[in-house]
Amino acid sequence: MTEIHRDVAAFRARLERARREGLRVGLVPTMGALHDGHLSLVREARARAEFVAATIFVNPTQFGPSEDLARYPRDLDGDVAKLATVGCDAVLSPPVEQMYPRGERTRVTVGELGDTLCGPHRPGHFEGVATVVTKLFAIAGEHTAVFGRKDYQQLAIIRRLAVDLLLPVTVIGAATVRDPDGLAMSSRNAYLSSTERDRALSLSRGLRAAHALFSSGERRASALREAALSPVQAAATSVDYVDVACPETLRVLSGDERVGARALVAIAARVGATRLIDNVVLGEEGAP
Ligand code: PAF
Repeated sequence: MTEIHRDVAAFRARLERARREGLRVGLVPTMGALHDGHLSLVREARARAEFVAATIFVNPTQFGPSEDLARYPRDLDGDVAKLATVGCDAVLSPPVEQMYPRGERTRVTVGELGDTLCGPHRPGHFEGVATVVTKLFAIAGEHTAVFGRKDYQQLAIIRRLAVDLLLPVTVIGAATVRDPDGLAMSSRNAYLSSTERDRALSLSRGLRAAHALFSSGERRASALREAALSPVQAAATSVDYVDVACPETLRVLSGDERVGARALVAIAARVGATRLIDNVVLGEEGAP
């Protein structure tokens, strides 16, 4: 039975009680519209904690004015039913007024990790993510939090904020879950028509091409980028970026630089009206 909490104070008290009972707490923050990727995060949390909670909150401050906040898919009952199948003990689904009480002013800024890749294309997005995740961490107290590697830049920023703000939280990154044909699972895949879904496969195809080239010994950032870009350019409606970057600092490598033992290849592109992201860390992960 998965408990549902709408009230932040009651949820905080529940997690405190679990810790008093000697249970380790795991947390999976989400915006709902859950798919198998999210459920794998819950399983990952379950492997590290005896009491696992998820949060479902469509966070308004991480959406730009022209983004999909109003039409973002919402299905609390369906989400809770899915969470119950993987043994999630509790869910927090708070109203916006509790997460952002009237008159609140404070925002968490993220520095240079937010300046590359998605940052310039989504002004204010990572500040919104960092702010809400800090609030969720403050509510949950000492715990292990699990996030997906598909949102690689988000994960890097959250790891950093937990360290910088001295929060008693261990942040874990879990592998991207893909459909059998390679498409990375995302709540936004629900927006894709079947022809758009076919075109969306170009993202994982691009990552596979870069992965194969890296495996054959290529180390020029420009060549790896070109391999990833070419299928995406052919199929996407528009490309925000295809970049090769340092997996730690997220600094984008320029054309004539060579990658080291590991390199992040990250893609953001629009297929129809839907913005999709995907990535792979060469030298660390298998082919997508
Ligand atoms: O990845 C998400 O679903 C969101 O960005 C998060 C981390 C739950 C913050 O709203």
